[in-house]
Amino acid sequence: MSKIFVDACFRKPTPYTPVWMMRQAGRYLPEYMKVRAQAGNFLNLCHNPELAAEVTIQPLDIVGVDAAILFSDILVIPNEMGMHLEFIKGEGPIFRDPVKTEADIDALLGGKEAADKLTYVYDTIKLLKQKLPEDKALIGFTGAPWTLATYMIEGQGTKTYNICKKMMYSNPELLHKILRKVTDIVKLYMENQIKAGADVVQIFDSWAAAIEPAKYDEFSWKYMVEIAEYLKEKYPHIPVIMFPKGIPAFLDKVYGNFDVFGVDWGTPMALAKEKLGDKYVLQGNMEPCRLYSKEATTKCVEGIQDIMQGEGHIFNLGHGILPDVPVENAIHFVKECQRVSKK
Ligand code: CP3
Repeated sequence: MSKIFVDACFRKPTPYTPVWMMRQAGRYLPEYMKVRAQAGNFLNLCHNPELAAEVTIQPLDIVGVDAAILFSDILVIPNEMGMHLEFIKGEGPIFRDPVKTEADIDALLGGKEAADKLTYVYDTIKLLKQKLPEDKALIGFTGAPWTLATYMIEGQGTKTYNICKKMMYSNPELLHKILRKVTDIVKLYMENQIKAGADVVQIFDSWAAAIEPAKYDEFSWKYMVEIAEYLKEKYPHIPVIMFPKGIPAFLDKVYGNFDVFGVDWGTPMALAKEKLGDKYVLQGNMEPCRLYSKEATTKCVEGIQDIMQGEGHIFNLGHGILPDVPVENAIHFVKECQRVSKK
């Protein structure tokens, strides 16, 4: 049976434009909070394939999206490289032992050794393959090497990225060494997700906007393209989605062999279509805070549909859904996307 989401990634005809939401499995769902409590905490949930599979499926049943995204986190990669990861309530993720020197990066696990430690992710995918309806796609994912490196170097979320940027301009060789090591793991990690059963993969470069446009290719995009092209060569039937957040100034320079470009909410859809719509299917891009108002949601969905006309398009938010969005508004968004695009 063909999956509408995979067909749309390859620009094949579909009965309507499929829709999913970044961070669709998460805290806005009371059902998620219940399972997370059962697991004890967020990381335990990521490490438990049965429970991770359960929360992956929740938004399909509750919100009606057309694809499931694996429940995990981008930071399990540095965690399995040997960095101690904690999630502090109200503060987010923290590594207390950030990478500062060449010796620090050399001391971490790399390549196959690191990728092979992420068995709980592959086990979650295998379970999901048994549980998901045949017509729903399963999206695997990773963080882009740059976005992962920002956490590895800063040790936590940051507003200024000053520690990474100091390295970028004063010791670029060290930053490239970190990016190289992470890229080599991510290639195998994505490959293992595909072998376990992921139908599609997405690379999140959430902190792309921290890099000046003239340096974006050198420190992020080229590594993302290397990963995408490694996968496309071996698994041409698996769509690859690239999501670099906040880089409208780079749209003219986007290149590489992948299938779908994720458009963030700060980039006008019409501009993305003009620059990239012939070459790539576009995913996105409602501003997630519009979900607070059903009227604002409908208006935006209709506007995006007017621009994309159901061709070469996948509906999504322009970044993740926030925890205090009412579930009924998320359901409204999904229904509206399916309604306006029905052929
Ligand atoms: O999209 C999905 O539903 C799949 C699951 C998913 C999570 N994180 C679950 C999660 C995905 C795809 C991610 C990716 C991720 N993680 C990114 C890139 C995507 C993006 O949103 O830009 C980043 C930068 C991270 C790192 C991370 N993980 C942060 C900064 C935080 C704290 C955020 C916060 O709002 O507290 C997390 C934790 C996290 N990852 C949660 C979830 C559901 C919340 C944990 C909880 O239940 O308390």
